[in-house]
Amino acid sequence: MTTWSGRRFSKMTTGTCVLGVAGGIAAAKASLLASMLVKSGFDVHVVMTRAACEFVAPLTFRTLTANPVSVDMFAEPGQWNVKHVSLAQAADLLVVAPATANFLGKVASGIADDLLTTTIMATRAPVVIAPAMNTRMYTNRIVQRNIEVLSASGYRFIGPESGRLACGDVGPGRMAEPERILEYTLHIHEGARRPSFEGRRVVVTAGPTREHLDPVRFLTNRSSGKMGYAIAGAAAARGAKVILVSGPVSLNVPEGCEVINVETACQMRDAVVSAASGADLVVAAAAVADYMPTNFSESKIKKSSGFGSLELERTPDIIAELGRAKGGRILVGFAAETDDLIANALRKLALKNLDMIVANKVGGADSPFGADRNTVTILRPERAPEALPPMSKLVLAHEILDRVSDI
Ligand code: C5P
Repeated sequence: MTTWSGRRFSKMTTGTCVLGVAGGIAAAKASLLASMLVKSGFDVHVVMTRAACEFVAPLTFRTLTANPVSVDMFAEPGQWNVKHVSLAQAADLLVVAPATANFLGKVASGIADDLLTTTIMATRAPVVIAPAMNTRMYTNRIVQRNIEVLSASGYRFIGPESGRLACGDVGPGRMAEPERILEYTLHIHEGARRPSFEGRRVVVTAGPTREHLDPVRFLTNRSSGKMGYAIAGAAAARGAKVILVSGPVSLNVPEGCEVINVETACQMRDAVVSAASGADLVVAAAAVADYMPTNFSESKIKKSSGFGSLELERTPDIIAELGRAKGGRILVGFAAETDDLIANALRKLALKNLDMIVANKVGGADSPFGADRNTVTILRPERAPEALPPMSKLVLAHEILDRVSDI
């Protein structure tokens, strides 16, 4: 077995991030984002507009990031080092949160009249934009046109979400939650150096299934869905059109993915088979139940009736079905095993006609369930097994997609 020992994995998801903060009430939430970016290992440099300073003091960001906060282009006579150019060049990526209607309008029109807009204009790094504004401003056709113009030029948008806004209106306009902006930013950053998935159509299954016995009980497993959601998010951030077929989990749908929520293996099978007809890659990360109760009791089964004689039957093997009528699709499966990991995974690779299987050891300290990190071995037909070192599920998702690009 080959064990990966190169240096690429020692690099964490870190770099220099410029966080632009424009003037809106969501600027307060941007301080949480600044803190999360720092904790993720970024060297964070905050650029604020004048209006943003009315909502949050620059000292807040200075304290959280341990870096000076920049507002003015001409603030320090004699110390002029063309700051917008130096920040724009130093940045591995830029995040603007919140982005106001004014900011979007200026950048879409090529206006650069303050440090934030000049920095955005001068960079070649990926730019993630999280708009936040009043619903009527957001739905204004001019703002929508500006977002279209910027999207078409490669700027990446996250949110806004719908809900109650600070002004009392209800509708789209809330800045995406900092956790979601962080996750999307990490995917954009991680994906920027890797092969694009632009134009690819990807189906990902994720999470457990529930096989119902009666109206209150079901058979299920410990899958959290995190690995599948990370793969869906990674593929979307790299430009793929993603359909995520998800069992019941408590995770945010990654930015840019269409989600189909299902409960049972049979529902998952129907959703996947229909979605897969237009797909060129299917990644089956779901922990589909192998058995379902033969009979569903409409009434709650009483203790007195005894569960000892529970009758079960096989669920449809979804990926095996796709493997039998494969066409040009690439099929990637997962194998979670307590024993004989590699032998079992190799058997499934061949049996289900897969192009790749990601083998997960389950048990003891290795348990992947619910964890944010994972240690896997990647198996492909006619290639030596590749044991990857432990890494976050987010980075692992990108590693898996890189190997798909190589098929
Ligand atoms: O359950 P098993 O270990 O065989 O799962 C291996 C692979 O097959 C996984 O990728 C899983 O998502 C997929 N699978 C499926 N339908 C099933 C069982 C498993 O697609 N009924």
